[in-house]
Order: sequence, then structure tokens, then C-alpha cells
Amino acid sequence: MTFKTIIEPFRIKVVEQIKMTTPEQRKEMIQAAGYNIFALHSDDVIIDLLTDSGTGAMSANQWGGVMRGDESYAGSPSYFNFYDSIHDVTGFEYVIPTHQGRAAERILFSVTCNEGDVVPNNSHFDTTRANVEYRGAVALDLPCGELADMDSDRPFKGNMDVDRLRAAFAEYGPDRIPLVMMTVTNNSGGGQPVSLANMRAVAEVCREFDKPLYLDACRIAENAMFIKMREPGYAEKSVREIVREMCDLAQGCTMSAKKDAIVNMGGFLATRDADLKRDAQSLLILTEGFPTYGGLSGRDLEALAIGMQEGIDEDYLNYRLTSTRYVGQHLRDAGVPLLWPTGGHAIYLDAKRFAPHLSPTQLPGVSVAIALYELGGVRACEIGTLMFGRQDPATGEELAGPRELVRLAIPRRVYTQSHMDYVIEVVLKAWQQRESLPAYRIVEQPPFLRHFSAKLEPVS
Ligand SMILES: Cc1ncc(COP(=O)(O)O)c(C=O)c1O
Repeated sequence: MTFKTIIEPFRIKVVEQIKMTTPEQRKEMIQAAGYNIFALHSDDVIIDLLTDSGTGAMSANQWGGVMRGDESYAGSPSYFNFYDSIHDVTGFEYVIPTHQGRAAERILFSVTCNEGDVVPNNSHFDTTRANVEYRGAVALDLPCGELADMDSDRPFKGNMDVDRLRAAFAEYGPDRIPLVMMTVTNNSGGGQPVSLANMRAVAEVCREFDKPLYLDACRIAENAMFIKMREPGYAEKSVREIVREMCDLAQGCTMSAKKDAIVNMGGFLATRDADLKRDAQSLLILTEGFPTYGGLSGRDLEALAIGMQEGIDEDYLNYRLTSTRYVGQHLRDAGVPLLWPTGGHAIYLDAKRFAPHLSPTQLPGVSVAIALYELGGVRACEIGTLMFGRQDPATGEELAGPRELVRLAIPRRVYTQSHMDYVIEVVLKAWQQRESLPAYRIVEQPPFLRHFSAKLEPVS
């Protein structure tokens, strides 16, 4: 690029008002929400970085598709547009529409997994893990060692550890491993990408043991763009070609289209396996719907068909990854600890080093997230002890989670460069005040998924 300013490769046709609030108002609102950012009303948030899932802005073209959506129960032309677009991008022969990613996961694991099975993955996303475990199977994470170093510049920290994959086949035996999954990009691993070299090595192991490889393809376009930018030999290939090369290594995929297909709702399961497709369709009819609409309306299918193509546009992807990195780079230059390099969809602050005076059970991630909200109305998500720690049922003692991160997930095509500059300023303001960030404690918590509804308070 000749110029350093990152411009959004789109114009804004419709605007949505942001309600501006003061720090004093936000202090009252977060207190009323029991210091739980999930309990805030979203119109009391200035910049909402809680998730990049389903929060993207659809294009004029997609809205046009919504108007054209055909709601026929069976054989809708919208289904064929949906099928053609996904088949065109992925090459998979059978495509099963679901209402979102987790429904595709439930169907895939229902037809492939039994009690005692083991599913290796670079890192399972929580719903993927839950759906594997719901079948009585073990969700085995095999991230590469490089992911543990938050500061190194390694380009593909999302990779799977291939030696550990081989060791898993040796330990559990191929009969207990019905499939291998790869999550691209690796969301639970900080949105870090997987290289094609690594995918090829994993596919080779799968071939050796005659097991199918499935992709969790939510962010396959961002992953492909990282490959283009970073993997030797791919600079001249198009993202479309790289996505296809990734899919060619796999037997199928699940996809939450709420990410890289830029829709507010939707997903699918795709496969080359006719038997699996038949079994999956039977389950689909039970809980999602007829095979030509699954869990979606005709208008959703149209928007998804168009979004699937827009999501692999290289100008868009270049802007998205560059803009995310721009935020990360500014914070890093100011000394803010974060997972480096930045992933495609989010920046992960390291709350352990951000607020080292707080122990994990004093909830440093919550403290940083609340500071961002109080100071600037930015909503981020704690991925730390509140989310992954637990209370010992016998003693009531709070036990720490494995890490203390705060995720700033960037919705697609929603915020502008000046919004991102504002986010940088807010984080830097919290960073300046880091020594005075208070500890928090949980005053009320449910037995499962406590981060969604726990009530907290600052410890003075
Ligand atoms: C990697 C990954 N897999 C699966 C899912 C589940 O998708 P959904 O929320 O559409 O059910 C998500 C959602 O965030 C995800 O990030």
C-alpha cells in the first residue's frame, strides 16, 4: 500500500446512533449490572467488543438478498444459491444448513462419536467441546507449543502439535478416534492462524489412520489471508485458492456463518461423505428443519450465500487484519501486555501482567474489563478465572482458571478507524491507572457457565 492510513473498503449507507454516556453514568450502570458486563444493556455500551459473532454489518447486497429470499418449505431457490456459493468456495459436495455453528457441531458429533471416543483438535471452541463431551467422548486439545509464548512473533501459533496427534493415535488407538478437527483460526488459541504446512501434516496423519479431517471453518477466510501474508509460497495465491486448498485437505467442515460469512445468524455442516450426509439430514429434520432450509429462513440463506463471497474479498480481509494489528501494535508499543501477533478477530490483553498486584482469584481480567467500560464505555470479555475458574464444592474456595485474558473482539465492518483509535486511547488510560485497579469478588454464582450471570463486587 502507498498510504499508511487504513481505510475501510466500504461506504456507510445506514447509520446507527451510539448513545454517549459519562464515566459517572457508567459507574452506576455497571454497579446496577452486578459488575457483570453481560448484564449491561447493550445500548449503554459505546463500543461493543464482546464478540465478533453475529455482530457484523451486512452489505447492501446482502440486504437485497434478504428481500429476494424465497420462503418455500422445500426446494427454495434461496437454498440453491446458498448451496452454490458454499460449494463454490469450499468444494464440499453436500451442504446442510443449520441455525448456527453449534447445531452443525451437534449433528456432526451425533453421527460420528460414541461414548469413550476421543476427538483431537488444535483447540476446541467451548461449544465444540461441549458437543463432543455431550456424546460421552473426550475433546482433546493439541495446540502447538509456540502458543504458550505470548510475546514471540511466530506466524502460526494456531497450529496443531502433530507429534502429540500421533501420540494420541498411539495412546487411544485409531478405533477410538472417529475424526480429527482443526479450528481455523484457532479461537480458543487467541484467534491465531494455522499454516497450510501444518494442515497438510495433520491430513497426512489422518490419511495414515484412514480418519476424516473436519475443519471448524468459522474464520477460514481470515486464516487464509494470514497464510497469504505469512506462509512462504502463498503471497501470489488468491485467498479463494488458499481457502480451497485448505478444504481440499478435509472431508468436510462445520461453520458458524456468523463470523466470516458476515451474517447475524446461520451456519452449516458440509461434507464429501454421502453416508454422513444421509445420517446428518435425518437428525437435521428432527430438530432444525427440512434439508433445503435447515434452521434458516430463505432470507437468511440468501444473505449467507452473498456473505460467503464477500468474506473472502481480499481488500476487506486486508483492511480487517491490518486494522486489528494496528490496535495491537499501538498498545504493544505503549507496553500493554497482549497476545502477539494479534489474531484476526480480536486482541487479547494479558490481565495477569496488566494488573500484577491482583491474584487470579481477585479477578484481574474482570477488573481490566470493568475499567475499560467505566473509563470509555468499551465492552470487552474476560476470559480468565471468572470464565474458567470454579468454586471448590467442598470448601467453597475459589480456584483460579488457566489464564487471565481480556478479549477485545472486533465486529466485522461495524466500527471505523476512529472508533479503533478511541479504543486504543481507552485501553491506554486504563493502563495508566493499572496500579489502582481494584480486586473483585464473586457474591453470587450459578453452578455452570457462571460468567454469564454471576454477580460481583469490588473489594475495597
Ligand atoms: C471457533 C468457533 N467454533 C464454533 C463456534 C460456535 O458457533 P455459534 O456461536 O454460531 O454456535 C464459535 C462461536 O463463537 C467459534 O468461534
